[in-house]
Amino acid sequence: MLGCGASFLKYSCVARVPARVPALTAPDPHVSLRDGMNLAKASSARKRIVVIPGDGIGKEVIPEAVKVLQAAAASGAREVALTEFDWGADRYLRDGTSLPADAVAMLQRDFDAILLGAMGDPRVPTNIHAAEILLGLRFKLDLYVNARPCVLFDKRFTPLKDRAEKDVNFIVFRENTEGLYVGMGGNFKKGTADEVAIQEDVNTRKGVERIIRYAFEFARNRGLQRVCMSDKSNALTFGHDLWQRVFKEVRAEYPGIESSHQYIDNLLMQMVRDPSQFQVIVTSNLFGDIASDLGAQLAGGLGLAPSGNIHPGQVSLFEPVHGSAPNIAGKGIANPMGAILTVGMMFEFLGLQAEAQAIDKAVRTALKEGKTPAELGGTLTTREVGDWVANSVAKSGGAS
Ligand code: NAD
Ligand code: IPM
Ligand code: MN
Repeated sequence: MLGCGASFLKYSCVARVPARVPALTAPDPHVSLRDGMNLAKASSARKRIVVIPGDGIGKEVIPEAVKVLQAAAASGAREVALTEFDWGADRYLRDGTSLPADAVAMLQRDFDAILLGAMGDPRVPTNIHAAEILLGLRFKLDLYVNARPCVLFDKRFTPLKDRAEKDVNFIVFRENTEGLYVGMGGNFKKGTADEVAIQEDVNTRKGVERIIRYAFEFARNRGLQRVCMSDKSNALTFGHDLWQRVFKEVRAEYPGIESSHQYIDNLLMQMVRDPSQFQVIVTSNLFGDIASDLGAQLAGGLGLAPSGNIHPGQVSLFEPVHGSAPNIAGKGIANPMGAILTVGMMFEFLGLQAEAQAIDKAVRTALKEGKTPAELGGTLTTREVGDWVANSVAKSGGAS
């Protein structure tokens, strides 16, 4: 099952990663918001990548993403070592392991990036394994930037009326290490009529400042004009007042960038009413989670949306925005394009710009030519989409 065939001589394939191939990006006026993030982890030419398919459709889309990864890397004669881990519901149910005790140190020591499918399985109703693995990695690796581009590749796929590619081209930067996700809280008199449940919203000066600053730096590096910060400071008068104060301070350092603020309820409405007003959105953990699903659909569908959980210069984790989709898992119809574009983001992070662009281009071409799965109105299976995109990359002659 390994993609270590003769055609991948440059590869050092480790472990059980299902293989097949592909990918490309466009010299498009509709500039990818992912291009040139300049986040690469300093490392040798050989990229060491962990692959965690996870649960549900994660196990279906990741093999397709790996095909594309291998095709793109082969096209650029890049040496990529893949190591697969079986972390997820099956393993948890089998031996109780979610995130192994030595995982974080091992990832920091031995790897450059992680490609993850999805976590979540109805057999684990508490979602505890998913929280320990996914949130555990985000927190313990301190992956404070959750970058979620919402870029419409082909106007036929947006549900918005009379909107074109230029209208949906923004990125959501979600704070990824604090907020309501930190797991502080508890129950009092649980299970009784007097039950109290508390979930704390933790906002630190350092955490808020670094994600807001990252958003402005990103805008400046890309030549973008607008950054919008979203919070709910009219109701959350302590935590989100901190966001207000930090935003005002940081934006003063970027006089060339137009900064604005929208309350989260208004922001979500505005994303539907006129998404063209947004280039960079920066917000808290929970709000970013919600805004990025909405943004994904505006850009064509949840199955098309990639993301990166990033700490610049350190091992970082890349995953599609979608979850394990138990309602379609096992049917072979999940859209693998979000996972495939996620490989593009990961390559960009690793400094493999040409290969990242090759992946984007192949997906754009597949969309244009209607090589799509059910989510996008097509008839192709998950595997057929993966094969098509992989072959497209291979045929394109690679990343040159
Ligand atoms: P989901 O993203 O799994 O699915 C939402 C809807 O989108 C479903 O109708 C699903 O069929 C569809 N969908 C998602 N991805 C698709 C794809 N690639 N192709 C076609 N259709 C796709 O969200 P959910 O149903 O709320 O959650 C299911 C499980 O996944 C839960 O356990 C949840 O906690 C988990 N989850 C995990 C992640 C992650 O690992 N990053 C993200 C979101 C949800
Ligand atoms: C996501 C998911 C996760 C989140 C869940 C599975 C905890 O929805 O990655 O968007 O809320 O961050
Ligand atoms: Mn989510």
